[in-house]
Amino acid sequence: MPIIFQHQINESAKLVIWHISEPESFFTKAIAIKSVITNETKRLQHLAGRFLLQILEPDFPVSAIQQSTFQKPYLPNNEFQFSISHCGDFAAAIVSKNQKVGIDIELTTDRVLKVADKFLSENEKKIFSNSLHPFDSSLKTLLWSAKEAVFKWYGEGGVNFKEQIQLQQLNENENTMECFFSKTNQQLIIHYRQFENLWLTWVRA
Ligand SMILES: CC(C)(COP(=O)(O)OP(=O)(O)OC[C@H]1O[C@@H](n2cnc3c(N)ncnc32)[C@H](O)[C@@H]1OP(=O)(O)O)[C@@H](O)C(=O)NCCC(=O)NCCS
Repeated sequence: MPIIFQHQINESAKLVIWHISEPESFFTKAIAIKSVITNETKRLQHLAGRFLLQILEPDFPVSAIQQSTFQKPYLPNNEFQFSISHCGDFAAAIVSKNQKVGIDIELTTDRVLKVADKFLSENEKKIFSNSLHPFDSSLKTLLWSAKEAVFKWYGEGGVNFKEQIQLQQLNENENTMECFFSKTNQQLIIHYRQFENLWLTWVRA
């Protein structure tokens, strides 16, 4: 079974991560949508993400998905709130019947070390270099993923990651991170999990 993680968050929200090992035809048969994406890998990831919406909610009307001016996918009747992510051979999706959601998956790579100064504030660097974990590519990938999940949850673009998404602390016992999002003046809880070198983060509020 290519599902590597499935989680019923509550009565109205659930998420799944899938390891993509099938050919494109597997997904197109299951969801009957066409993609105009020319890059084969990106097209496969895109189709796998939409396929997961139906794994989570068999009645999910995948063909009704529209894209906002900020590239956020949505359903015009708002029957479901949802978010999609893909990275390498993995795809993930979250669906909620009543709350806005954002999901992200990221594979740890050293590339994050080069851009960490662009998305982490001085205060965040201080907080996380004093945590129990080494402030290395793995932790920085988690922090990047957390900000991407918030960005997708917000969905309206124009977010300054360094200034407007302030990660505050890890609660390791609960696998959560506290966050203040100044754009909407909201305190958010980001949930996270690690599967070897793959990080999963999600937000709902
Ligand atoms: C759009 C973005 C979030 C995608 O993230 P990514 O890690 O490259 O790719 P992922 O696979 O995780 O996510 C892609 C999915 O996000 C969703 N998505 C795209 N734009 C979105 C938006 N504005 N809001 C919510 N979801 C969005 C789509 O479902 C997309 O998949 P699909 O095209 O197959 O439907 C990212 O490219 C981006 O723009 N981030 C913001 C960068 C930024 O502003 N940085 C400034 C500080 S350094």
